Amino acid sequence: MNHEKILIEKAVRRIEVQSSPNNEQVKIKGDHKDLKLIAAGTDAAVFRFLPAPDKAIKVFANEKCDKLKMELDVYRNIGESNFYPHCYGSGVNYMIISFEEGVTLYDCVVRGIPIPKQVIIDVENARSEVIEKGLNPRDIHLKNILMHNGRAKIVDVSEYMKEGNDYRWEYLKRGYEDYYHLIEGKPVPLWVVESVRKWFNQSTVFQYEEFIKKLSKLYDMFSISSSNRKS
Ligand SMILES: Nc1ncnc2c1ncn2[C@@H]1O[C@H](COP(=O)(O)OP(=O)(O)O)[C@@H](O)[C@H]1O
Ligand SMILES: [Mg+2]
Repeated sequence: MNHEKILIEKAVRRIEVQSSPNNEQVKIKGDHKDLKLIAAGTDAAVFRFLPAPDKAIKVFANEKCDKLKMELDVYRNIGESNFYPHCYGSGVNYMIISFEEGVTLYDCVVRGIPIPKQVIIDVENARSEVIEKGLNPRDIHLKNILMHNGRAKIVDVSEYMKEGNDYRWEYLKRGYEDYYHLIEGKPVPLWVVESVRKWFNQSTVFQYEEFIKKLSKLYDMFSISSSNRKS
């Protein structure tokens, strides 16, 4: 084992990642000076590896290690790409991937950072690229897309071997095209974004029009409360 891998093994052993019910964010116990938390997902937590800051370590919850194996397989299939991280290797409960600069589209919406059309085009191209490689791009939502200098990268490819379409990207794209101009550059309160996320995750049969109706009520509430604050 090379020196870097030994350091990674030592550091990861100090971290415990626990999954949460209802596919909510994982919980993280422990820490290590070489690991700086970037974000918690629903299967894993991702850390920057400080001795080699161009690398990130995705540490999976024990019950989610089947996803680790699937994600490694997907990265092997993707190979080199400008749209996805590079995978350098793995251990029992983690993988080593390239650290990607940028903010998630989720944070862009919450912080009011404008998302240019090029980001949507990049995601479309990223999807076509992996479809050509025989994969099925799924689970493409706001937290799995990073924006840096107006360009997009996709993280979290663990579901690309699964069958079926979850339509997450189709609805996001449609929402962007139809309604993004209403919120562009305006911070959307966290409770609004979280309500939308939960509605989507809870709906068994998703109906775009119904969803938009609900959303427009929420949008009115949000507009009224922000105009009250200004006056
Ligand atoms: N290679 C990376 N570089 C920088 N940040 C990353 C990277 N991979 C993941 N992240 C961040 O960590 C979060 C969780 O990672 P993700 O792979 O989506 O975990 P999960 O499979 O649990 O959803 C992402 O939403 C993103 O903010
Ligand atoms: Mg994710």
